[in-house]
Amino acid sequence: MDNSAQNDYWNGPAGQKWVRDAERLDAMLRPFAIAVVDAVRPEAGETAIDIGCGAGALSLMLARAGAQVTGVDISAPLVQLARQRADAEGLGAQFQVADASLWRPAELAQIAVSRFGVMFFAQPAKAFHNIRAGMAPGGRLVFACWQPLAVNEWALLPIATAMPFLKEAPAPPPPGAPGPFAFGDNAVVESVLSESGWSGVRVSPWEGLMELPGASAEETADFMMEIGPLARAMADQGIDAAPVKAALVARVRELAGETGSTRLKAAAWIVEARA
Ligand SMILES: C[S@@+](CC[C@H](N)C(=O)[O-])C[C@H]1O[C@@H](n2cnc3c(N)ncnc32)[C@H](O)[C@@H]1O
Repeated sequence: MDNSAQNDYWNGPAGQKWVRDAERLDAMLRPFAIAVVDAVRPEAGETAIDIGCGAGALSLMLARAGAQVTGVDISAPLVQLARQRADAEGLGAQFQVADASLWRPAELAQIAVSRFGVMFFAQPAKAFHNIRAGMAPGGRLVFACWQPLAVNEWALLPIATAMPFLKEAPAPPPPGAPGPFAFGDNAVVESVLSESGWSGVRVSPWEGLMELPGASAEETADFMMEIGPLARAMADQGIDAAPVKAALVARVRELAGETGSTRLKAAAWIVEARA
């Protein structure tokens, strides 16, 4: 299974950005960690794995609930930060740098969770087959993944605002290609999980407003250019940041006012299944 492009991406600039922005990203994505934990209801002593754990926010929530957590991520810099955070809190969570589509836990897990860490596999059904093989019979899987880009204003609005300055509209990824919106179609999620032997698959919508980071319109505009589809388009097309930032600042001011927060529509799936 060739996840080398994602390996390079998450160990390169994207990993560095996620390390640098870890606190702000965690604040922004906290509602989804809460939704996953509420659905999985971890009990003290249960063994859990966090797939694509990044800087470990969800792993740490499970560890605080008393679960024995192992977070797995392909990104060495993010795993290093996750370990530091666990140590700082004196939590026993373990972290492994590994490709979750190949890695297996030493002991079968009762819980597998993920917050936006399962949409990057080159061969999703094979990856989920491997994850299921690491689970105890009846083990619970709960993860959050994005609904399509078209219903995620937080990602779409920055692109729409920057469009006059892009050389071309970012091409939609080919169907099935790894990326943040790869599981946007709930039918795809259901078929990947059934094909890989999971049962009782349930896909529920999470729809609401997500507060973007930034104490000022400038900071929010910087964040919009740093993370998400606009960041990728600007890097791919070598776009000058200054005019894009000016347009984003003006748009953020319209949305939020100079000191107000920027809250944009977000839509995810909360997916549950049993091993
Ligand atoms: C959008 S980030 C989410 C990080 C974290 N779950 C969070 O919510 O903060 C996606 C994560 O998936 C990880 N990832 C991508 N492909 C992976 C793979 N094959 N195995 C393990 N982790 C992977 C990336 O390194 C990255 O940390």
